[in-house]
Amino acid sequence: MDSIRITGGVPLSGRIAISGAKNAALPLMACGLLTDEPLRLSNVARLADLATMAQLLAQHGIEVRAEERELSLGGRISNTEAPYEIVRKMRASILVLGPLLARTGEARVSLPGGCAIGTRPVDLHLKGLEAMGARIRLEGGYVEASAPRGLRGVEIVFPFVSVGATENLLMAASLAEGRTVLKNAAREPEITDLAKCLIAMGARIEGLETDTLTIEGVKALHGAAHDILPDRIETGTYACAAAITGGDIFLENARAADLGAVLTSLREAGVEIAEAENGFRVSRANGLRGVDVTTEPFPGFPTDMQAQFMALMSVAEGASLITENIFENRFMHVPELARMGARINIQGASAIVRGAAHLTGAPVMATDLRASVSLVLAGLAARGETTISRVYHLDRGYEAVEEKLAGCGARIERVAAA
Ligand code: EPZ
Repeated sequence: MDSIRITGGVPLSGRIAISGAKNAALPLMACGLLTDEPLRLSNVARLADLATMAQLLAQHGIEVRAEERELSLGGRISNTEAPYEIVRKMRASILVLGPLLARTGEARVSLPGGCAIGTRPVDLHLKGLEAMGARIRLEGGYVEASAPRGLRGVEIVFPFVSVGATENLLMAASLAEGRTVLKNAAREPEITDLAKCLIAMGARIEGLETDTLTIEGVKALHGAAHDILPDRIETGTYACAAAITGGDIFLENARAADLGAVLTSLREAGVEIAEAENGFRVSRANGLRGVDVTTEPFPGFPTDMQAQFMALMSVAEGASLITENIFENRFMHVPELARMGARINIQGASAIVRGAAHLTGAPVMATDLRASVSLVLAGLAARGETTISRVYHLDRGYEAVEEKLAGCGARIERVAAA
């Protein structure tokens, strides 16, 4: 397994081009199941998770062609089973359930297990599809769903916000009979991007950017072309890289509006953000201050930025209280950051971070995507050498991370496994 070696202490300076969003691309690729006509996606990042989704779609019969930063999806569904071997690699595979069921009236999808950041059930996805008329059975670790007479529109009030359940039901409702209303729906920018693509495919959806989505089902969807929005979590991560090293980076293509709460917290911590037409500049000339954050659904502070912000707070002056409200086990970076000298105590769903004067390089281990990138950030700021093992986690969601950081002066390299 490859590892990443960083010699810290260089203030980063330069430009980083932000890639297309992973968490938008995954449901958008699943839209390939909603029509036989070609769906062309542009601004597609080269990421391990997107390759996994392409593999899943291919075994459903969808032809996936990659060219530069574009993906063309097309063809007929020939198999409605999503096997355990693929789903266990990536939980977002559950996003094929709604489209397969809406399109063919049946689907057999392996239940994703728990994962490093929590138990992550999919009950809201299943209850929603049931409310739309599907019969759902759990058999041998698989969700077996059928709707021989098709899905029908219904009002669904989510008991709490779920990104994945909103996406699955939005896709399914686009081909259901009649009107579906999704209340307390997620309104992350990736949901709006998905809705825009569905509308380009002929879906009738209202309420974009709000927590109530109204979908008038149509008989069929057609092909379309869609440009994927820039990755707000990659953006926030590189903003933290500029901040933690006391550097100055221009983030090309970044959309400040998609990062609302993150930029507010960075500014409170003493980081300067200057918005421009095609991105924004992040710099820090003075010391960092401790800031409290609580993770929430959009537009609140995203759970996917919690680990990176904690790395930043571990070198701020004063204390910071970081509360994780979305996942129950998303503090696995804490013991690894502690090995680098961070002073962090966990109390239930909160972590108290007392800023240290400096971090020290150490061998550390990645446990999930965002935890691993928080260790990269810590390594960039630390004195001496940090080696991060199990970097395949990083490759799932960060495109060319070493190239992008090295381009701004970081001393970072990938070390191939012997
Ligand atoms: C999406 O996961 C993202 N993944 C996650 O990104 C992100 O952390 C998460 O949303 C929250 O923003 C993709 O978009 C592919 P949820 P998702 O359903 O859809 C519970 C990353 O690092 N829940 O909004 O799976 C769930 O356990 C990742 O890129 C149920 O209880 O998240 C969690 O506590 C990791 N039942 C909460 O809701 C359900 O049926 C929110 O989960 C569904 C969810």
